[in-house]
Amino acid sequence: MNTKKYLEEANVDSILIYNGSNEDLNFYYFTRLLEGGIFEGSFAVLTDDGIKVITSILEEESAKKGKHEVLLYRTASEREELLRKALKGSNTIGVNYNALSVRDFEKLKKILGERDYKDISEKLGEWRMIKDEEEINLIREAGKIASEVADIMPNFMKEGIREYELAARLGYEMFKRGAEDFAFTTIMAFGEHSAEPHYLSGDRKLKKGDFVLMDFGARYHHYNSDTTRTFVFGRASEKQKNMYYTVLEAQKLGISMIREGVNGKDVDIEVKKFIDSTEFKGRMIHSTGHGLGLAVHDHVGLSSQMDLILKEGMVVTVEPGVYIPGFGGVRIEDDVLVKKDGAEVLTFAKKDELIEV
Ligand code: GLY
Ligand code: MN
Repeated sequence: MNTKKYLEEANVDSILIYNGSNEDLNFYYFTRLLEGGIFEGSFAVLTDDGIKVITSILEEESAKKGKHEVLLYRTASEREELLRKALKGSNTIGVNYNALSVRDFEKLKKILGERDYKDISEKLGEWRMIKDEEEINLIREAGKIASEVADIMPNFMKEGIREYELAARLGYEMFKRGAEDFAFTTIMAFGEHSAEPHYLSGDRKLKKGDFVLMDFGARYHHYNSDTTRTFVFGRASEKQKNMYYTVLEAQKLGISMIREGVNGKDVDIEVKKFIDSTEFKGRMIHSTGHGLGLAVHDHVGLSSQMDLILKEGMVVTVEPGVYIPGFGGVRIEDDVLVKKDGAEVLTFAKKDELIEV
């Protein structure tokens, strides 16, 4: 990795990323230590010489799988010594105010002494927005796992199953296909619960006529997918069908607008305009999508509240929904790679027909 670009753009002598009391995903972004290792209490130090990983002896084998120089400590004082050495001569040190706890930052300042500490959190966010090939392939794999699982989930829906049981099955099926973790806590919402966009799961039993909304993702080598599918258990009513096909059309409209140069804000505006032209006016109560990567909500995406000019290499979700309290909700979500002339959809579970289970 060419550290010069990062140091120049942030206008600092070095960058210090601390995976400390709070996890800092930028540790993985820079070191690409993506296949195992927890690296708690570890540092990534970027200088003109490249990247150094400062980590504990317990992570030695994991750290050696990477491409960067690894400096190992056994004790706190060894760790401090390595840190001081790695940052010798750095006057301006870029740090991430988004992740550093106040306590960790105070400790670091004590170790490193009088320097100019500069918050580079905004720059980190910008760099992370554009994914390189390795990152895209990991999101692609995370998307494949989630899509395959979404397609088989109807097999496990039976009268009386509880939301948390079905969520557990979903997790098992993802892990069986290579997921190393959930991207986030699964939303498994039956019936009226599907009207709550961020419901999690509970002991509600599945009964005929329920919507089954599942919003979930796989984490694969630290990169995430995020997909939502909505089914009906039993025969769908006309209202349920109308909701489903309205959301499907809105989602297809959103995806069709995505290409380099488009403002994410306009995608949200158009999607909502469409929903508002139907009987479900005002029932889409969140934005159309968000950036996706090492974090599930990686950066702003498709929101009428914010400008984001889409660029090739960004990955965003497209997830319109309509929600009717007491009745239920429908959301359909896919992950989309922005390209020069369009979009590549990275999640591919069936959606063109409302599935009645
Ligand atoms: N997957 C939940 C969300 O995007 O908010
Ligand atoms: Mn999402």
